[in-house]
Amino acid sequence: MAEITKMVVDKDYVISKIDDRIYGSFIEHLGRAVYNGIYQPGHPAADEMGFRKDVIELVKELNVPIVRYPGGNFVSNFRWEDSVGPREDRRTRLDLAWRTLEPNEIGINEFTKWAKKADTDIMMAVNLGTRGTADALNLLEYCNLDTPSYYADLRRKHGDKDPYNIKLWCMGNEMDGPWQMGHKTATEYGRLAAETAKAMKAMDRSIETVVCGSSFVGMPTFGSWEAGVLDEAYDYVDYVSLHQYWGNQKNDTADFFAVTDDLEFFLRSVIAACDFVKGKKHSNKTINLSFDEWNVWYHSNDQDNADMENMPWRLHPHLLEDHYTYEDAIVDGLALIKFIQHSDRVKVACLAQLVNVIAPIMTEDDGPAWKQTIFYPFYLVSKYGRGYALQPVIKGGDHATSTHDHVSDIEAVPVYDPEKERIAIFAVNRNVDENVTFEVDLRGFEGFKVTEFSALEGTDMKAVNSAAGENVKPVHRSDAKLDNGVLSAVLKPASFNVLVLEKGRD
Ligand code: AHR
Repeated sequence: MAEITKMVVDKDYVISKIDDRIYGSFIEHLGRAVYNGIYQPGHPAADEMGFRKDVIELVKELNVPIVRYPGGNFVSNFRWEDSVGPREDRRTRLDLAWRTLEPNEIGINEFTKWAKKADTDIMMAVNLGTRGTADALNLLEYCNLDTPSYYADLRRKHGDKDPYNIKLWCMGNEMDGPWQMGHKTATEYGRLAAETAKAMKAMDRSIETVVCGSSFVGMPTFGSWEAGVLDEAYDYVDYVSLHQYWGNQKNDTADFFAVTDDLEFFLRSVIAACDFVKGKKHSNKTINLSFDEWNVWYHSNDQDNADMENMPWRLHPHLLEDHYTYEDAIVDGLALIKFIQHSDRVKVACLAQLVNVIAPIMTEDDGPAWKQTIFYPFYLVSKYGRGYALQPVIKGGDHATSTHDHVSDIEAVPVYDPEKERIAIFAVNRNVDENVTFEVDLRGFEGFKVTEFSALEGTDMKAVNSAAGENVKPVHRSDAKLDNGVLSAVLKPASFNVLVLEKGRD
């Protein structure tokens, strides 16, 4: 048995109110995310607009407050005008990012309706790759303005009297990446993002803007990119984006679970870059973080690269359809814990993506929608992780992995919801061999009782779910003890756990 891990939680040690938008997600025009994902006319589950109701139900179960759209790499070669107005006039275009055909059957008009049905808001990305400020302004006018002016009129002509009121706007996507259409240097991009955000805010003072950070922490320009872009754009943007995907290519589960330590480095470095520029500029404004792409992504890479090379220009092919394992679900749970720990600066985060493409929700073309393993940690944290993040003090055992010397056995964070009088503790046992006894000293929570103990527990790290059934789903335990304000539970090796306590309830 590994060393006991002890955690002290005090009601008064607040990190931050959690911004619900950290439970955001992402839908890109890519593979089967849109076509045969959220939209499949003729499918038995399709509604009158062709949207799959089974998918909408699962999205609602995840309670996703915001969805980034329409890309991703796709947006850097997207002409938004092609995706609005009468369908018979819409043009099929080449999507250069994924080397597929985009029929534009679903576009901004339809996606705003889908978002309403799914109870979510849109985080819209503008094309700063092959296009620029003027097109971004036209799109903003089309979406948000109620003026008697050309693009607002055009939206009304297209049947949508009321503006869409989209509040959060991404200034392009991954512009640091050489793979991006219209890739730029930090200064080139920083200037364009600054001028675009400035003009967009002149048009609609209610919007917030996200400037592109690095595509991942390992980019050669990481750090200098953030500082360089913010040097140009600081005054006009509200968030800097972070993207990161993880993979267990080495088949080394213990080291895979240490990704949160690398994530800690990533987050701290970007916060430092933001605050460095703030200091340089003697600014009162603080730039926060939008972690608007994150997930495990590696299972499908080789196949996708071969298919994009050998079979280009298909309509909605199977692309980026990672089939997630048990251990992938644990990593996603770890990432969510990290975002909550940094909720004073991470205000938006988008699980990439939502449907079929590196997604928690999958669809069978001729069958049902189903839940991948990674559905469950997101579901549990989105359900119970609303309210205030509390600063835990954790002391316990650690272990070494192949590339990390000291990996704490337990990663954990408490979240307190004063309205519901509920505290939820999310904890992952990263020790892949041993149980860990977890003791939580709950200070200021008199009269609270354990009302739920749900866990993802498993010994087969490669277990997967499918349309035929779920091998990975939460188990409900009843063996957590609360004695004199000390909660204790034995956390299984490689497990994700949620302990919920509520006042005056059993
Ligand atoms: O989510 C898949 C892709 O990953 C996105 O299009 C891009 O932004 C990132 O590289």
